[in-house]
Amino acid sequence: MKIKKAIIPAAGYGTRSLPITKVLPKEMFPINGKPAIHYVVEEAVASGIEEILIVVSRNKNMILDYFDRSLELEAFLAETNKQHLLKKLSVPKAHIQFVRQPFARGLGDAIQMGRPFINDEPFAVLLPDDIFVEKKRSLKQLINVYEQQSSSVIGVKQVKKELLHNYGVIKGRTISSGLNQIVDIVEKPKSSPPSDLAVVGRYVLHPDIFTFLEQTKPGIGGEIQLTDALKAMLQVRKCYGYEVSGERFDIGSHKEYFKLLKKLYCDEG
Ligand code: G1P
Repeated sequence: MKIKKAIIPAAGYGTRSLPITKVLPKEMFPINGKPAIHYVVEEAVASGIEEILIVVSRNKNMILDYFDRSLELEAFLAETNKQHLLKKLSVPKAHIQFVRQPFARGLGDAIQMGRPFINDEPFAVLLPDDIFVEKKRSLKQLINVYEQQSSSVIGVKQVKKELLHNYGVIKGRTISSGLNQIVDIVEKPKSSPPSDLAVVGRYVLHPDIFTFLEQTKPGIGGEIQLTDALKAMLQVRKCYGYEVSGERFDIGSHKEYFKLLKKLYCDEG
């Protein structure tokens, strides 16, 4: 079945980036004049996604405004013969819907909000903190694996041992170069991570995940963790970890956000 739907959870408080995230959602952090979430939607569309659900919270209306038409501004630019600026207003072509997550109960809960939208199809999840700079789109790489294996697949990357406690970490059995069948997955391991392969914010999931999310109790940080639901699903369904190519930047980290800006500036300059 073709993967044509994606969920982008964008409801978090962005606590790592306070105080700016009091007023500016981190998904709206500018990257070369476009907000971060623009790049994530663009990656989804370039990977074949047609319908996107963005899960937001109360202070994220700016994201809805960004993906909406701006009729007044469009009319102004047309009237003042600034047609060349009109194309700057365009956003990636997808059918985008929004839903609000009323309580900050975690990533798993945010994904669960998308159950009626997904309606029992395999689907993609893109975490908008993670920006990939790669022509061969990370999500597309995962969709290709899903199509070959007919099983859920998660994007992973090797991460330094001392940073693994920030991530979901898989234990895998190597199937082929870059492809591991997941035998265990742990969210933010405090000690003894099962490997150095960390989950990097791109997933293609079987819709059964919703049944497992429903049964998932709050985990680390008191939140419903997608990782815990994935771990439970491993008992009945295969799931793979695929080492996606391309440089990944976590824009929730000041250092990586700055590195991303510098890279794009240098690449374009
Ligand atoms: C989330 C996931 C984690 C994953 C990470 C990637 O954590 O829960 O498994 O490794 O995204 O960015 P968060 O960064 O939201 O705490």
